[in-house]
Amino acid sequence: MCGIVGYVGPATDGTALDVVMEGLARLEYRGYDSAGIAVIDGDHVAFRKRSGKLVNLRDEITGRPLSATTTAIGHTRWATHGGPTDDNAHPHLGGPEGRLALIHNGIIENFHSLKTELLAQGVTFASETDTEVAAHLVAAAYERTHDLTAAMLATVARLHGAFTLLAIHADQPGVVVGARRNSPLVVGLGDGANYLGSDVAAFIGHTREAMELGQDQIVTITPDSVSVIGFDGTPAQGRRYHVDWDAAAAEKGGYPSFMAKEIDEQPHAVADTLLGRTKDDGELVLDELRVSEDALRAVDKIIIVACGTAAYAGMVAKYAIEHWTRIPCEVELAHEFRYRDPVVNGTTLVVSVSQSGETMDTLMAVKHANELGALTVSICNTHGSTIPRESDAVLYTHAGPEIAVASTKAFLAQITACYLLGLYLAQLRGGTAADEAQAVMRELREVPDKIQTVLDRMDRVREIARFMADSRSVLFLGRHVGFPVALEGALKLKELAYIHAEGFAAGELKHGPIALIEPGQPVFVIVPGPDTPHDLHAKVVSNIQEIRARGARTLVVAQDGDEAVVPFADEVIRVPRTPPLLQPLLTVVPLQVFACQLATAKGLDVDQPRNLAKSVTVE
Ligand code: AGP
Repeated sequence: MCGIVGYVGPATDGTALDVVMEGLARLEYRGYDSAGIAVIDGDHVAFRKRSGKLVNLRDEITGRPLSATTTAIGHTRWATHGGPTDDNAHPHLGGPEGRLALIHNGIIENFHSLKTELLAQGVTFASETDTEVAAHLVAAAYERTHDLTAAMLATVARLHGAFTLLAIHADQPGVVVGARRNSPLVVGLGDGANYLGSDVAAFIGHTREAMELGQDQIVTITPDSVSVIGFDGTPAQGRRYHVDWDAAAAEKGGYPSFMAKEIDEQPHAVADTLLGRTKDDGELVLDELRVSEDALRAVDKIIIVACGTAAYAGMVAKYAIEHWTRIPCEVELAHEFRYRDPVVNGTTLVVSVSQSGETMDTLMAVKHANELGALTVSICNTHGSTIPRESDAVLYTHAGPEIAVASTKAFLAQITACYLLGLYLAQLRGGTAADEAQAVMRELREVPDKIQTVLDRMDRVREIARFMADSRSVLFLGRHVGFPVALEGALKLKELAYIHAEGFAAGELKHGPIALIEPGQPVFVIVPGPDTPHDLHAKVVSNIQEIRARGARTLVVAQDGDEAVVPFADEVIRVPRTPPLLQPLLTVVPLQVFACQLATAKGLDVDQPRNLAKSVTVE
């Protein structure tokens, strides 16, 4: 998620530059790979932008100072379309003379068609970004309206996707115009100055009076005024409030931890990973893969390589990919793959899954797969990282930067991206596989709202976690796609609360683990929906009976309306109904919340657990 800052106010002693650079520094926590600033300098727009960290931008400005100004916008970019380069950094200029500057947070879903239209009109592009399309559109509209607010209004009507835009124009010093759809934008209300930010951290050093903009709204700020209209042009109001967080809390958006914040960001992480990857008719479009359809059609074996939580995402995907494509799909821990002399050739697709794109075990597995002649595709959350560069192709997740060491929103985004890859392979096979892919995509689009429903039901789970803070051991059971969910639930508890926890395939119980069951032993059971094939639901219900009969404390994650579990459950945690293969995107959420809350109740640092690093860059 990019960082956005806007300022209009006195030009005294470099205020604008200080405000923007300070705001960008406070937004660094959001993660970024380039930064830039644009100001109105007399009768033109001046800008500086550099890839890398803010220090590079500061050096650039020191070397080529900007004049004092009343009007400035600043941006830290988390790359989505186009790598983290100087040219792709924001701001982007619009119009033949570059008299407009624009910055953007989000994804413009229909930028391909808009860029094609602009290229046909003779517009030249300086970057690979979707953002530059918006800059040229606003600049063209300004040539008709000679009013920046009207130009923004005309432009947003043509944009699909998620976006926060800020723009300035050399003809209108003292004005910054912002627009937001499915992406946050907050106004900082000052005295003789006003501010804009992707969150209050951008301006909390200057004012605590804020106004949050609603969906599909445009705001125009001057040093003495703030006006809001809807995308339909009618007057509108933002929600005013006083920011009582301190600066540190502001970085977490008011949450107690990045972990808690990122758990709540999961509906957006899944929705943003789906954005821009289907046509209006639902057909999947993964042009970004840049692998020929023939090469993908020739694939006769898939091996997923990853570590930790990313490996569990792969395990979930395995069930779906095999079902949809009928291609054998193995999941291998990356650090085992290289040493087992794997059977790999030119028609093997090796898919690496990695949030950081820097995990050495996974990187070495990808290099080994390349040496064996496999087609390698990276599913990664970090643009420009090493593993995508070593792969033949990449499918980025759009979870935004994941700051907490324990992975949550990246996990759901990884599963989503793996589903997209599997559905795309199925679509290439045509016939019933393609029809099913379309049906699944329709169900997948409903998942973000269902995740939000689960998040809205978590009070009882938090209460249970506080009550269980002294637990010494917790077990997790699941079958089918619920098995990797059980493994992930156990991993979350281990790495956050330092409690012994173990995930099992529920069918494995009678082959040994049931010996662990004693009175009071807490056991989470992930129950497949009653409509899951092969009578799996009934089998898991009988597993619950088996452990309950031996005194286990059963905490059951079950679908809405599933009454069969009630007689054997000490706690029932409900999730909305969804097709069997998509259920992990919902059933893992209570386990994440439980682990986070229990660790918090123990007074532990959930963002930086002991002994762990966010990216394991050694073997
Ligand atoms: C997840 O909670 C852990 N922090 C860890 O297992 C992580 O998933 C694993 O190290 C892989 O990291 P990656 O996704 O960046 O490759």
